[in-house]
Amino acid sequence: MSQTADFIRGLPKAELHLHIEGSLEPEQMFEFARRNRIALPFASVEEVRAAYAFSNLQDFLDIYYQGAGVLQTETDFRDLALAYFARVAADGCRHVELFFDPQTHTDRGIPFAVVADGLLAGMAEAQRRYEISSKLILCFLRHLDEEAAFATLRAAEPYLDRIVGVGLDSSEVGHPPAKFERVFRAARERGLKLVAHAGEEGPSAYVWEALDRLHVDRLDHGNRSLEDEALVGRLVAEGMTLTVCPLSNLKLCVVKDLEAHPLKRMLQLGLRATVNSDDPAYFGGYLADNWIAVTKALGLARAELATLAKNSFSGSFLEPAEAAEHLASIDAYAQAA
Ligand code: HPA
Ligand code: ZN
Repeated sequence: MSQTADFIRGLPKAELHLHIEGSLEPEQMFEFARRNRIALPFASVEEVRAAYAFSNLQDFLDIYYQGAGVLQTETDFRDLALAYFARVAADGCRHVELFFDPQTHTDRGIPFAVVADGLLAGMAEAQRRYEISSKLILCFLRHLDEEAAFATLRAAEPYLDRIVGVGLDSSEVGHPPAKFERVFRAARERGLKLVAHAGEEGPSAYVWEALDRLHVDRLDHGNRSLEDEALVGRLVAEGMTLTVCPLSNLKLCVVKDLEAHPLKRMLQLGLRATVNSDDPAYFGGYLADNWIAVTKALGLARAELATLAKNSFSGSFLEPAEAAEHLASIDAYAQAA
């Protein structure tokens, strides 16, 4: 491994944009399908991987929702989460704020409790095994309607002490943030943190809406904010954290190649960008793979890497004292390296 890759893997970091269903590896898809007696439309792992050629977000979502169909039991969700944590334990990852999509499961008859209990069990085990802390973020599927989002929030009620916040994902264009203004207000009234995918494929106007109508605490992706100078000014002034996902952007054709990725420009503009994997099993890399690929493509300096690592903790929903410990560990690491 190169010196840069070694430095990156050892750097303490958090992952703030990870869809746990997007960590389902093809091998695991076959294993879960076998034990749950579910037929898959693929004959082999190679055939599944060959299907992972996407030209936009919807191409990916179609196959991602299909893959999630093998997840049936609490054990499946626990195993899924643990397999993810085992991978990022080797990436210098100390904290994860993971998304889950309850509607993808409840709409096929899997109770909310099966999903949440399984994921929470995996998260607790990851803390014991790998000393990785984690928090759960419930995402509403934006291609479904407001009432379905409210029903999901009601189903989550018994779990709200173990869910840090709500998010908004799935097909962006045609489903602006404003569609979910009332359910986000209800979530805020319950003390939940708020995040939303915006400006991945959708226009900068959707980012404005996420700020002004949803009142998000953090922005997922946000790439297209760069098309709007006033918006960049607003994001910088507010110290808004952006959860950027380089390999996802490449695979979903948000950027033409990694050399054209806006991450370095975001940092130069003073935006609080972070690096994340999004759906690592589908996009060709886990947390450190994203860091290494984008660092090589853009020639990021060590000082920029330390800034990205610090942004991942200062933009997290950890308590300030916990975040401060991680920030100090980054300084200590960078000085010793
Ligand atoms: N964008 C929107 N919805 C998603 C994504 C994404 O990158 N990954 C999983 N659901
Ligand atoms: Zn995402």
